[in-house]
Parts: sequence; structure tokens; C-alpha cells
Amino acid sequence: MKKKIISMAMVTVLSLSLAACGSNPDNSSSGNSGSSDKKGSSSEVANKDKPLVWFNRQPSNSSTGELDMTALSYNDDTYYVGFDANQGAELQGTMVSDYIKNNIDKIDRNGDGVIGYVLAIGDIGHNDSIARTRGVRKALGTGVEKDGDTNSDPVGTNTDGSASAVKDGEIEAGGKKYVVRELASQEMKNSAGATWDAATAGNAIGTWSSSFGDSIDIVVSNNDGMGMSMFNAWSKDNKVPTFGYDANNDAVAAIADGYGGTISQHADVQAYLTLRVLRNALDGADIDTGIGTADDAGNVLSDDVYVFDSEHRSYYALNVAVTSENYQDFTDSTKVYEPVSKQLDKGSHASKKVWLNIYNASDNFLSSTYQPLLQNYDDLLNLEVDYIGGDGQTESNITNRLGNPSQYDAFAINMVKTDNAASYTALLNQ
Ligand code: BGC
Repeated sequence: MKKKIISMAMVTVLSLSLAACGSNPDNSSSGNSGSSDKKGSSSEVANKDKPLVWFNRQPSNSSTGELDMTALSYNDDTYYVGFDANQGAELQGTMVSDYIKNNIDKIDRNGDGVIGYVLAIGDIGHNDSIARTRGVRKALGTGVEKDGDTNSDPVGTNTDGSASAVKDGEIEAGGKKYVVRELASQEMKNSAGATWDAATAGNAIGTWSSSFGDSIDIVVSNNDGMGMSMFNAWSKDNKVPTFGYDANNDAVAAIADGYGGTISQHADVQAYLTLRVLRNALDGADIDTGIGTADDAGNVLSDDVYVFDSEHRSYYALNVAVTSENYQDFTDSTKVYEPVSKQLDKGSHASKKVWLNIYNASDNFLSSTYQPLLQNYDDLLNLEVDYIGGDGQTESNITNRLGNPSQYDAFAINMVKTDNAASYTALLNQ
């Protein structure tokens, strides 16, 4: 027993001295002496001055959508990485309306002259979700104006067309006029509070289909996680085209089985940008390095895959529609994007430690597409990333696991709620 205690104590001493070595800026073996290495080791730099990237959920007011510029410009090395929500939303809407027009002879399943769709909403306070709801309503003519933009509120059930948050649209195709009606829509939030919840969407389609199933001609979802849950629960067997967003592997594969289509938000570009902006700041390099300007390994992005909004310190990847025409090109959503797939040299880009969280470890897109991509890029960029998976419900579940920010050189944050940036920055200010 005594022996065991002694050896335990030795282990503790050993690991403490190892930790001290790792954070000692004078220790050349820690690889912090590169000349291009502005930030040095984690211990020299105050946490509040370390590079910070927000990704996937843009700091913003969840009621008004207004961007949270305090969070977006937290320090000189703070950025947001996401995708162009409006361009993607418009693509999704157009994809659905084109599908209706091209399949008009068979789309109206019960022949009542009304093309009915149901809509799964991810998170009513998330700008991406709001944009997608608007995009679909605009393209199908079912949107009504509210505060200068298309209303994005869920309608509940609207089988009689009387809801005030939407109106009946009209489509003319094959020499005939059809009414387009949003029969039902709902935020897919589970009882524990998790949004974009696939299981909730699977249950909702069960309820909707049992009360007005043969009126449903199209199923639309703010993402593939919920879309695939509805497809597997009901629409696949009933041959009702279902549309999602994200181009996750399972959704792309399902296009062969009747899934109507999805949108790629170029997660391969986003995951790269998320880590790249940190890498550049840690190297003291120009922010455009390896982005608009080739880096020393030859990595560079062309301007047809992203835009940079310098005013809001935000990088947005551009979206691409994935349908039966081109889905063969999108079968592996976790593959790195070839133009930015070259390994950085360890000598001039020393290994650095990054703390990164995924707000909900069970979110389909983030866990099956985004995180695997990040894991591919972290090696190429010489970043040692600790991945923290949240429960999708509370910020504290994640912030509790940022106990010692001083151990890290940079941070990548995916909030539960877009209003809550301060819960993270408060920890860096201490
Ligand atoms: C994705 C969703 C995901 C959400 C999480 C969106 O951009 O499309 O699938 O659930 O981000 O924040």
C-alpha cells in the first residue's frame, strides 16, 4: 500500500514537471521558437488576447438577429466562420420549387389541386434556421411580411390555410394552377431543450401523417438530421420527396432512394477556415494566408467557395445544391477540400493547442460531417485540438469544461445559444 502511494506521488510530480516544460517559452523542445511565431507559448499571452474563432452559430441576438459585434471583435484575432445563410436559403427554396415544377404531373398525391408541404424548423432563434424557413416560403410564395422581412415563425397546423404567419402560394405548371400550402411547421426542440432535434422531427411526421398524410406532397426541413429522420420514419415508404440541408453522407446516399435533395454548405471549406484563422493568428501571419493568398505549402481558396465580410469579421462558405443530377460528386462529406489539403511544415508552423467545442455532440451535421473534417485538418495545420462535446441544452455543460484556458493557445467556440458569447469570453477575461 505504502509503495503504491509513493509511486502515485511520483507520477504527480513527474506530470507537473512535464506540464511545466510544455509551457516554458524558453524550452526549445516545445517548438515555440520559430521566428514567424508571434504568439509564443500559451503562458506568455493573456487568455483574453489569444486567437478566438466562433463557428456555426454566429454571435447574435436570437430575437432580432442583430450581430453581436462585441463578441465578433472580442480581440484583434477574433473571427466567425459559417456559411452564406441567405444564398443557401435561396438555393434550398429554388431546389424545392424546381422539383415541384419538374414533377407537376405526379406531385399532387390526392389530386386536390393543393400542393401541401410540411416544414421542420431547427431553432427559431438561429439565423441559419430563420434564413432557411424564409428561403422556402419566399420560393413557394407562402411567405408573409413581418417587420420588413418574411415571417419565419412556425405555424403549428394550417391544413385549412388560415394561419397568419404564412399565406397560400400559387404555382402554375403543366398548364394548370395549383395552390401551395404550408400544412404544418414546428420548431423541433425536445423536452430537455435541445433544438434541431431529429427525434422530435421523426415524431412530428408521425403525428402529421396520421392526421393529414395524403395531403402531404413535399417534406422540407431546415437540416438533414431532421429531414432524414422524417424520411426514414415516413416519407421514404410513402414516396414523398423530402428536402434537407447540410449534405451529410446519409442524406446524399438517400437521394438514390427518393430523398429530394439537400444543400452543401461547404463544410470542407468551413472546417478549414475555422482552424486556419487560428493558425494564421498563432503564426503572426496575415489573416489571408492560405485563404485568398497561397501559403508556403500552396494551400489557397478560390473566391467561388467563400466570402469574407471584414466589417463583421466573418468568413462565409458558399453553398451548392445537391440533387439527383450531381449527388455522386458529394458522397463523402468528410473529405478535405483538395486546394487546401497540403500539410504545413512543423518547423515554421509549430504545434499549438486549441480548445474547441461542439455545442451538441449528437447533432448530425456537426458530429458526422463537421467534426470529422476538423479532425482531418488539425493534423495538416499542426494543431492539437481538444474536442469537447456539449449536450446541446446548456452553456454551462460546456463552459464547465473550460476550467483552465491557460493550457491552450487558441479557442474555437460553438455556442448553444447565439446570445451567449459572454459566457465564454468571461472565462477568458479572468
Ligand atoms: C446546420 C444544422 C445544425 C446547426 C447547428 C446548421 O448550420 O445546418 O444541421 O444542426 O447548424 O448549429
